[in-house]
Amino acid sequence: MKLFLDTANLAEIETVASWGILDGVTTNPTLLSKEGKVNPEKHLKAICKQVVGPVSMEVISTDTKGMVEEGKKFAKWAENIVVKVPMTGEGLKAVTELKKFGISTNVTLIFSANQALLAAKAGARYVSPFIGRLDENGEDGLMLISELVQIFDNYAFETEILVASVRHPRQVTEVARMGADIATLPFAVFEKLLHHPMTDLGLEKFLKDWKSTQK
Ligand code: G3P
Repeated sequence: MKLFLDTANLAEIETVASWGILDGVTTNPTLLSKEGKVNPEKHLKAICKQVVGPVSMEVISTDTKGMVEEGKKFAKWAENIVVKVPMTGEGLKAVTELKKFGISTNVTLIFSANQALLAAKAGARYVSPFIGRLDENGEDGLMLISELVQIFDNYAFETEILVASVRHPRQVTEVARMGADIATLPFAVFEKLLHHPMTDLGLEKFLKDWKSTQK
């Protein structure tokens, strides 16, 4: 399973990229707003330079024409830009239109299997089901991923399942077991994948025992 970082923070991207296991980055307007007043073009270009894999940048327009114009503009910023569009009828039309220009899309704000099915049929490169927000709404985010893996396998869709709105490490294990293509994680969750208290205790003991062998 590929692992993306869900952030617009350059320091977080640098840290995870330095571990050598970063496959891509996803941003959204909320994540960009956390970086303060930034020039979106300069900021995204800086992110795209730090990351070898795809970097999602979300459109602000809600009509197809506006989304396509924004998407074409983003695509000129860097080769690894993916245009994020919302799961609406206008968004689906934008996916089809942008595909004609060879521009990859990530359909965001997906909360049902049928929404993901429509996005895949429109030709999205990625669909982003929001599992944490579903759980918070009293629904079952993991169940949605299990349904999507089955549906996409049934019809051999090339669209990749990009699990988003991840809240904790156990969800990462579960979606990997199910065969999701990608999980995009906030930095805090990424860090939790790395650590286990028994690793720290074990290392402490190894180092202590090694010292005792030295004269
Ligand atoms: O980037 C989309 C998604 O991961 C956002 O998650 O935490 O705002 O529900 P969240």
